[in-house]
Amino acid sequence: TQTPVIAVDGGAASGKSSTSRRLAARFNLMHVDTGSHYRAVTFALVQAGVSPGDAAAIQSHLKGLKLGEQIDGQSARICIDGQVPREEDIRSEAVNAAVSPFAAVPEVRQFLYQYQRSQAAVAARAGFNGLIMEGRDIGSVIFPDAPLRFFLEADEATRAARRAREGQTDSIAERDRIDSSRKTAPLRCPEGAQRVDTSHLTLDEVVDLLAEAIEQTT
Ligand code: C5P
Repeated sequence: TQTPVIAVDGGAASGKSSTSRRLAARFNLMHVDTGSHYRAVTFALVQAGVSPGDAAAIQSHLKGLKLGEQIDGQSARICIDGQVPREEDIRSEAVNAAVSPFAAVPEVRQFLYQYQRSQAAVAARAGFNGLIMEGRDIGSVIFPDAPLRFFLEADEATRAARRAREGQTDSIAERDRIDSSRKTAPLRCPEGAQRVDTSHLTLDEVVDLLAEAIEQTT
């Protein structure tokens, strides 16, 4: 099955999550937040006492985890061993601090690769019109052939203001620094993707801009 896939990448607080959710509702797409996948795996590894520097321990712990998904309205949430991880666990300070170091480990990315690719078929089976997946490497690594790939950016002042408004306290700049400089699947605008600077746009304007591109392609 060739399910239409829309890739939305960008740094932390670039607006990609709110935008993707709105587009999912507008076009009846299944929404997948891959940041939550890295957070869920990080939580499991932290709980197991595994450190990001120990690739062998990461590998052997991941081997024992079974991934699935639970569809919750417009979104598919990752399940590990049959459980959807709790929001308060995957958005904790401990996970905020550990997620970028773990996401830089090739074994962790490899572990999620097939699972993330498989979400296109999940969306089709569940009767959605397509899949909208947000992350850091969706348009570059997971679905490089998707006809619609967007990269959202915002200047530092805008990101700081959004972060403050949302009450986020973690060091987003530090995560972006680690995510952009890692060797495997670094955060950057995929070749051929549409780059959108959201600094001076409202959420409605960003949604409309992407919606127009989607309507032209489908
Ligand atoms: O999207 P969110 O900010 O929740 O992502 C948390 C972290 O997960 C990112 O800072 C990054 O380290 C990692 N991530 C990634 N690749 C993705 C999505 C998230 O490396 N596709």
